[in-house]
Amino acid sequence: MATASAPGKIILFGEHAVVFGRPALAVPVTQVQATAVVTSLPRVVPKGTQKRSNLDATHWQEHVRIEAPDISLYSDLHSLLSNPAPHPLALAVTSVLAALGIEAAPPLSIQITSTIPVAAGLGSGAAVSVAIMRALAAFLGRPLPDRRISALAYNVEKLHHGTPSGIDNTVVTYARPVYFIKDHLTEPFRVNRPFTIVIGDTGISAPTKESVTDVRLLWKSEPARWEKVFDQIGQIASRARQVIEAEDPAGLGPLMDENHALLELLSVSCPELDRLILAARRSGALGAKLSGGGRGGNMIALVRKEHAPAVAEALISAGAKRTIVTQVE
Ligand code: MEV
Repeated sequence: MATASAPGKIILFGEHAVVFGRPALAVPVTQVQATAVVTSLPRVVPKGTQKRSNLDATHWQEHVRIEAPDISLYSDLHSLLSNPAPHPLALAVTSVLAALGIEAAPPLSIQITSTIPVAAGLGSGAAVSVAIMRALAAFLGRPLPDRRISALAYNVEKLHHGTPSGIDNTVVTYARPVYFIKDHLTEPFRVNRPFTIVIGDTGISAPTKESVTDVRLLWKSEPARWEKVFDQIGQIASRARQVIEAEDPAGLGPLMDENHALLELLSVSCPELDRLILAARRSGALGAKLSGGGRGGNMIALVRKEHAPAVAEALISAGAKRTIVTQVE
């Protein structure tokens, strides 16, 4: 048996602009996790199949069970690879096998559980991929280094997200705060003084792919204008890193507010997010912004630790479906 987990994540600064090459900061959220458990199943010898034709070269896939009770999914690899399009969970499995040069897996079962809300900007897809890949590679006796796991999870993200930056798979794989520039740099950063973030969930499911596609359309319509906005967001992310590494983290509050205003310009906020952000600010948060793809999903607020319960309560009163208080350190 092999078990592996990966945490959720929040983007502190720089979402969307990161897809266009600007820096972004993301941190793990260990209060929520995706876990995969791989166990072996008894070997089944199909009757009268001494000479196997090419047709059943994929027979072994029927004996790789994939179960994710949280989403009522009970299936096998073969079914998940077909109709209508390959399922991301199945792609996570086949990409590890391909990376290990294994043509047919032994009969096995993969149980996936996750407490990370789906389509909420908390990196659930990436975390599930990473957990499956780690557990399967370990089960097969060939654990893969983080760098490989992150790259494989990125390929799965690309297949179902279109043009992701790679920040989600990176932060959930390394489970450390990272400063990230697409295709250039993944740098864990040091937190000078721990700080507290309250996360508020609008409860609105918002696939990242859609907001990323819309931002690309906006950019295409007027590249020079939006490049400037991306530059401003990137500068905020760089400045935020300096604050986190060397200064009083309270300085991040105004940077969050500025970042959110630019995300509103990019049309990725929504009334529900704006309502939670306003409620956080009014109840004592030092700053607040949406986090992740936007149009729903989660917002984050920087708070003094002692104010966290009051801000969380204000978020619930303003319509948040749930809140998570996390310490960034
Ligand atoms: C999603 O968590 C963050 C986005 O910037 C998309 C990406 O970086 O792939 C919106």
